[in-house]
Amino acid sequence: MLASYVVDSGSPDSLRLGRLEAPTPGPGHVLMRVQAASLDRVDTYIRRGTHGMAVTGPTILGRDVAGTVVATGAGVTGFTPGDAVVGLTTGTHAEYAVVPATHCFPRPAALDAVHAAAVPTAGRTAYDAVVNLAGVRPGERVLVVAAAGAVGTFAVQYAHHLGARVFGTSAPAKADAVRALGALDVVDHYRPDVVESLRAALPGGEVDVIVESVGGTLWSDVLKVLAPGGRLVTCGVTADSHAHLHLGRLMVKGWTLRGIGRPGPEAVACQLREALTLSAVAAAPAIAATYPLEQATVAHDRLEASEFVGRIVLTTS
Ligand SMILES: NC(=O)c1ccc[n+]([C@@H]2O[C@H](COP(=O)([O-])OP(=O)(O)OC[C@H]3O[C@@H](n4cnc5c(N)ncnc54)[C@H](OP(=O)(O)O)[C@@H]3O)[C@@H](O)[C@H]2O)c1
Repeated sequence: MLASYVVDSGSPDSLRLGRLEAPTPGPGHVLMRVQAASLDRVDTYIRRGTHGMAVTGPTILGRDVAGTVVATGAGVTGFTPGDAVVGLTTGTHAEYAVVPATHCFPRPAALDAVHAAAVPTAGRTAYDAVVNLAGVRPGERVLVVAAAGAVGTFAVQYAHHLGARVFGTSAPAKADAVRALGALDVVDHYRPDVVESLRAALPGGEVDVIVESVGGTLWSDVLKVLAPGGRLVTCGVTADSHAHLHLGRLMVKGWTLRGIGRPGPEAVACQLREALTLSAVAAAPAIAATYPLEQATVAHDRLEASEFVGRIVLTTS
């Protein structure tokens, strides 16, 4: 089968395109013919060997996948060859992928393969942050940091669908796209006066919930607009794993600071099912671009340049 893979850590140029043996479904697994597989920020971490990840031998990148069932392994019931499905696994930037049956779900009729493939990693993370950890309620003020990113776009859409008043931060060129997803206002998070700009943009100058995935100084800055009793969920550290926290302010404000954690397989399956259901009724996931698998290097370049809003998806013919 055709696959996009890496052998050694490196830049997008280290990606190889070639023919590898197609996988076979072991017990509890489903073999899928891949139609669409999104490119995730974590794929670039694995390729570069950063964020504690490393390549150990030939590695097909990709986690999210939509396609059709080809065959099932021992003990798998409920799937028939030809079924349209969506799943979460590893090694999806290829023509075939095996997915644990527990992480493979019927593709909702409202989502085509490209939009469904956008959901698993980013959608389930946004769902967990917005619904499970922050417990966003109608009318609450929610600030989504890096709102143009994959997790950010889902977080905006989900919080908006739940009836929250949603605000975002992004590069200025992406603000209109974030507004179109449901944000009432968007602040440029590269401004040196980002805190003052947020205070001016937010009702009452503060928010009840922050969904954060950048880290570093931006994490410390946005915390300054979290209302007393507010909740912040950290679900990524794209820029920096470290941030400054004023413990006296934490004590006085009574904030709840949560990390997304490393949920087990059952929790991930639950989040994935809920995210697919929510995306099917909330709004179509934001797709920045699709590239044929053969152009995976171009797609990686674009992701690393952060020149996109939402999800970049690879397709196979
Ligand atoms: N723990 C989990 O289970 C989990 C799951 C999914 C994602 N994550 C993590 O969450 C983070 C966001 O994921 P994602 O898929 O949404 O990523 P993404 O699609 O690449 O979006 C990242 C966004 O961050 C913004 N940004 C701000 N400062 C940046 C900087 N210094 N470098 C690069 N981008 C910067 C960029 O937008 P602007 O151009 O507007 O600045 C970009 O839109 C990543 O760190 C990812 O690893 C964790």
